[in-house]
Amino acid sequence: TPLHGFLADLPKCEHHIHLEGALAPSLLFKLAAKNKIELPTDDPAFASPEALTKRYTNFVSLDDFLGYYYIGMSALITHEDFEALATDYFEHAAKDAVMHADVFFDPQAHLSRGVSYETVLSGFTAARQKAEKNLNITSTLICCFLRHLPVPESVETFQLSEVQASFASGAVAGIGIDSSEVPFPPHLFTPLYAEAAKLGLRLTAHAGEEAGPEYIASALKDLNVTRIDHGVSLARDPELMARVAAAGTLLTVCPMSNVFLKCVKSVAEVPIRKFLDAGVKFSLNSDDPAYFGGNYIGANYCAVQEAFELTVREWEGIALAGVRGSWCSDVRREEMV
Ligand code: HPA
Ligand code: ZN
Repeated sequence: TPLHGFLADLPKCEHHIHLEGALAPSLLFKLAAKNKIELPTDDPAFASPEALTKRYTNFVSLDDFLGYYYIGMSALITHEDFEALATDYFEHAAKDAVMHADVFFDPQAHLSRGVSYETVLSGFTAARQKAEKNLNITSTLICCFLRHLPVPESVETFQLSEVQASFASGAVAGIGIDSSEVPFPPHLFTPLYAEAAKLGLRLTAHAGEEAGPEYIASALKDLNVTRIDHGVSLARDPELMARVAAAGTLLTVCPMSNVFLKCVKSVAEVPIRKFLDAGVKFSLNSDDPAYFGGNYIGANYCAVQEAFELTVREWEGIALAGVRGSWCSDVRREEMV
């Protein structure tokens, strides 16, 4: 890639990474064996880490991926498991010159398996503290709610005392919604986001990944988000795109995820040029790197460069938007600019 060295060294902020999506097949098999979790015996993809890696290159949709994503995380049981998972992510991030990461996790997918919120949070927190100390990577946690489950279950999870305590302490900075997008439009989650807004939490939502721009419009209007996760379908509505640009809303775009989940045929179809021309702020992110060919943030930067041949100035603009849009402390932000 032209600018390869420049892009490798460019200080990065990542805003769209599901920690559970950083579970590599090798660690998945290791944890499943340790925890005596039986992986599906009726799916040849689980014959070996190699077979699973190969299956991960053939997803046909978001929901096809999500089936594997939920099976994968069934191997995560103890504090140490969650710490090892997040540490693996931070070590990859360090190699890609990531300075700050706002990272998602899915507590409902663990609570439903009998794994406590305390186990998940303490494991991730231990990894975050070590990443800050040893790798100079700061991070914040974003608690995601699963949109394929009934909304009252999200509200119940949100109201658990240990979840509320993690908001009050600042351990968790914001909320999001993820999992199957259609037919679960953002407005369904209005009651949840109203409660989160009262607590002063940061608000984001996955929108416009498989669904059209009307899901993005709903996230902005009904949920009052300041960020949109993915947002690729925004370019189909120029009027909305102009409003998003004027509001300064950050899109957390995941180009290689969009290719692996068949939202687009190639990275060249991701509307990067349209966003630049319209003045829409965006960052580039890995989403679920262990499921999408082991492509972490650096590979996404390179793929965008190959498809769009951006200038150094354009890359500097993207990097700066990432720093300005990060949910880090102001002290950290000053260090990064
Ligand atoms: N979209 C929705 N839900 C998800 C994703 C995604 O890209 N990754 C993990 N959960
Ligand atoms: Zn995502």
